[in-house]
Amino acid sequence: MKAITKTKYGGPEILQLEEVEKPSLKDDHILVKVAANSANPADWHILRGKPFFARFSFGLFKPKDKILGADFAGIVEEVGNNVAQFKIGDRVFGETLKGGAFAEYTCVPANVCAIMPEEIDFPIMASVPVAGITALQALITHGQLKEGESVFINGSSGGVGHFAVQIAKAYGAHVTAVCSSKNSGFVKTLGADQVIAYDQENIHQHKGKYNLIIDTHGNLSHKDYKRMGQRGVMVGFTTMGHMIPLLLKQVFSKFPLVQFTAEANTKDLETLASLIQNGKIKVHIEKTYSYKEIPKAISYIEAMRTKGKVAMVWT
Ligand SMILES: NC(=O)c1ccc[n+]([C@@H]2O[C@H](COP(=O)([O-])OP(=O)(O)OC[C@H]3O[C@@H](n4cnc5c(N)ncnc54)[C@H](OP(=O)(O)O)[C@@H]3O)[C@@H](O)[C@H]2O)c1
Repeated sequence: MKAITKTKYGGPEILQLEEVEKPSLKDDHILVKVAANSANPADWHILRGKPFFARFSFGLFKPKDKILGADFAGIVEEVGNNVAQFKIGDRVFGETLKGGAFAEYTCVPANVCAIMPEEIDFPIMASVPVAGITALQALITHGQLKEGESVFINGSSGGVGHFAVQIAKAYGAHVTAVCSSKNSGFVKTLGADQVIAYDQENIHQHKGKYNLIIDTHGNLSHKDYKRMGQRGVMVGFTTMGHMIPLLLKQVFSKFPLVQFTAEANTKDLETLASLIQNGKIKVHIEKTYSYKEIPKAISYIEAMRTKGKVAMVWT
C-alpha cells in the first residue's frame, strides 16, 4: 500500500510517499481503507520531534513509528476477533495519535472510531476527530460548561477553535470568541455572540468576566485567566517559555485551571457525529489536498493560519 513515511525528525520535506506493507489486523482493531485525512498541529510536532520532551513518547533519536497521521475517515475492510461494534463495509472515522493514518490502509483500535453519519462525506468526517474531540473535551469534560454560562474562547478560527465556538453554542452557552480581524466575519458565522479581534484589542487587558476561559492558542497568562474567568482550560501552547511559568504558577494557585491531552473515544466521536448530522456543527474545510500533497498540507498547517480545517483525499 502507499503511505506517507518518515525515518528521521525534520520538516515536511523529509516525508516520502512510498510502498509499504499493509498493516496486519489485531484482535481489538479494525483495518480501515482510508478515504480522507485531515492535518493537525500534532502532525508537525511529531514530524519535527518538537517540543523535545515529546521524543520520550515518539522516539528519542528517531521516530518509532514510520507512518505519519492521526485523523482519518474510510471504510472498514477487516474486523478483529474481539470487535463487535463494527462490520466490514461500515463507514467510520477516528484518530490514531500513534500515527499510521496517512496511508491507504490504517489499523486502529475500535474504541477510537465511530460510524459516520449517513450522507456526510469522508473529508468532512476526517476533519473532525482530533480537533472536534479536543474542543468537546475542553468545554464539556474539563470545562464543565453548563447551559446559560458564558465562555471566552481564545483562538476561535482554527481547527479546535471553530469546533469549540459551535459546540459551546450547541450546549447553550454565550460565546465570546477571539481571532484575527481577517477571520472575525467567519467566526461570527459560526454563531459567536461577540467576536474580539486580537489585532485590534489587547486581550491581555480585556476586562470582560466569564464563567469559563478556553485558550486554544496558548498565549494567555495566569493573570489573564484569573482576571477574566472563574475556571480555565488550556488547550494549545505557544512556547515552553510561556507554558512552564504558567504551569508553575498554577501549582501554587487555587484558580481551577486544567491542562489536558485530548483522547478519542467512541462516545465522544458519536456526540460529534450527531451534532454534525443535526446541523449544529458545520465543519469548515479551508483547503483540500491530494494524498500526494500531504507534505504541502503539513506545511500549510504549520503556518498556524488555518481557517477551520485542512483535508487530504486518497483518490
Ligand atoms: N491539548 C490537546 O490535547 C490538544 C489537541 C489538539 C490541539 N492542541 C493544540 O491546540 C492548538 C490549536 O490547534 P488547532 O488544531 O486549532 O490549530 P490550527 O487549526 O492550526 O489553528 C491555528 C489558529 O491559531 C490562530 N492564532 C494564531 N495566532 C493567534 C493569536 N495570537 N491569538 C489567537 N489565535 C491565534 C489562528 O487564527 P487567526 O488566523 O484568526 O489568528 C489559527 O486559526 C495547537 O497548539 C495544538 O497543538 C492541543
